[in-house]
Amino acid sequence: MTIDVVILAAGKGSRMRSDLPKVLHPIGGVPMLARVIGTARQLGEVDITVVIGHGAEQVREGFSDSGVRFVEQAQQLGTGHAVAQAIPHFRSGATVLVLYGDVPLVKSGTLQSLLSAADRGPALLSVEMANPAGYGRIVRDDAGRVLAIVEEKDADADTLAIREVNTGILAAPAELLSRWLPELSCDNAQGEYYLTDIIARSVSEEIPVTGVRASDALEVAGVNSRAQQAQMERALQQASAVALMNAGVTLLDPARIDIRGDLQCGTDVSIDINCVFEGSVTLGKGVQIGPNCLLRNCRLGDATRVEANTIIEDAHVGEACTLGPFARLRPGTQLAAGAKVGNFVEIKKARVGAGSKINHLSYVGDAVIGEAVNVGAGTITCNYDGVNKSLTEIGDGAFIGSNTALVAPVKVGDGATVGAGSTITREVGSEELAVARGRQRNVSGWQRPVKKT
Ligand code: UD1
Ligand code: CA
Repeated sequence: MTIDVVILAAGKGSRMRSDLPKVLHPIGGVPMLARVIGTARQLGEVDITVVIGHGAEQVREGFSDSGVRFVEQAQQLGTGHAVAQAIPHFRSGATVLVLYGDVPLVKSGTLQSLLSAADRGPALLSVEMANPAGYGRIVRDDAGRVLAIVEEKDADADTLAIREVNTGILAAPAELLSRWLPELSCDNAQGEYYLTDIIARSVSEEIPVTGVRASDALEVAGVNSRAQQAQMERALQQASAVALMNAGVTLLDPARIDIRGDLQCGTDVSIDINCVFEGSVTLGKGVQIGPNCLLRNCRLGDATRVEANTIIEDAHVGEACTLGPFARLRPGTQLAAGAKVGNFVEIKKARVGAGSKINHLSYVGDAVIGEAVNVGAGTITCNYDGVNKSLTEIGDGAFIGSNTALVAPVKVGDGATVGAGSTITREVGSEELAVARGRQRNVSGWQRPVKKT
């Protein structure tokens, strides 16, 4: 099947009261339009046209390398007019699928059923609503065949009572849309060219219309305001939490986790409250995450434990590591198995070897640290001279005493020892002891100053 997808995204979204075009607002950390494009791509080799208008430049910029085509609808004259902008790009024999940039959670399986139903005539996606206010109503005959979609503003009292509404999402053969859309009239309550009018048109030509019902209202819900965005965000987070638990993850409170991207977990992972996962995060088997952690684009090996209030960004953490509480791993951090990073330790662009420990109050940046190294409390790599960044290298089994300043570029050899409080500016050979601090002098009989009268 040749599938031409048209995504409508020209509307202003005035109720968002935002300088950002509505479709660029995120749900679950991903711009709504990106979600829709991603779902469309799951249908196979599809051609995608996005109809833009308000905020067109910002939308184009945000999606410049997404492989979609943009067409501009200068004036928003209605959904039928919007889809018509894509007609020149319809391929012969294609089935056209109409999606919306502000209906972000639609599932590809549902779209697949809709497409299968649209090989000869239009297929529309409907949903039952307890409160259908604002939506186009699906009018069926006694035999249940779809006759028309009537917009709320054009509906009489009987029609308004119908609870089956139009989600807006539909599929239809390109040939039919190319013929019908240019002939739409705008003689209706809103003076718009309604896409929905193709349904009555199809019926008048005795081309059958199929109605496919969406099972889940969230899937077809649109976002028009910040409140709806927040509601949808909560609903998505709740669904993600349930999916994680079904996959064998313990969530201490499924209402207090936020996944803004993709979180993959091995079995028996446990996640305490108020953790945020952004981008692509992978947690190995048995990983334990304490409360209030932020993890962004990172991978944690099996059995690693992250204590409370730890932040991890663009980092690889090996198996059985211990992090935090209050640790911060910045981009480019790589910890080998069994490494320990304790409280108030910041690590950036550094490799830390297996079993090495940096337990308290340190900054380690631009460094390569071997295995079984002990970095004492308060140790700082002085990696920046105000202009350039330089490397600190520490060999296997080295012991760095507390409160050491390592002035990079500098090397400390395997098995070397650095005395506490040292400022190391020259290479320390392996197995050597380096002490670089003022010697202690004890003055006996010392008299403290006395207050002048
Ligand atoms: C539309 C449907 C209605 C359905 C409802 C579901 C029509 C005529 N009505 O009504 O049956 O129940 O969606 O939400 O289709 N857009 C453009 N260009 C335009 C007009 C709209 O890109 O010229 C985009 C908007 O950005 C929006 C979407 O199309 O994302 C829907 O447009 P809107 O005017 O809100 O349609 P509704 O009145 O809600
Ligand atoms: Ca609307």
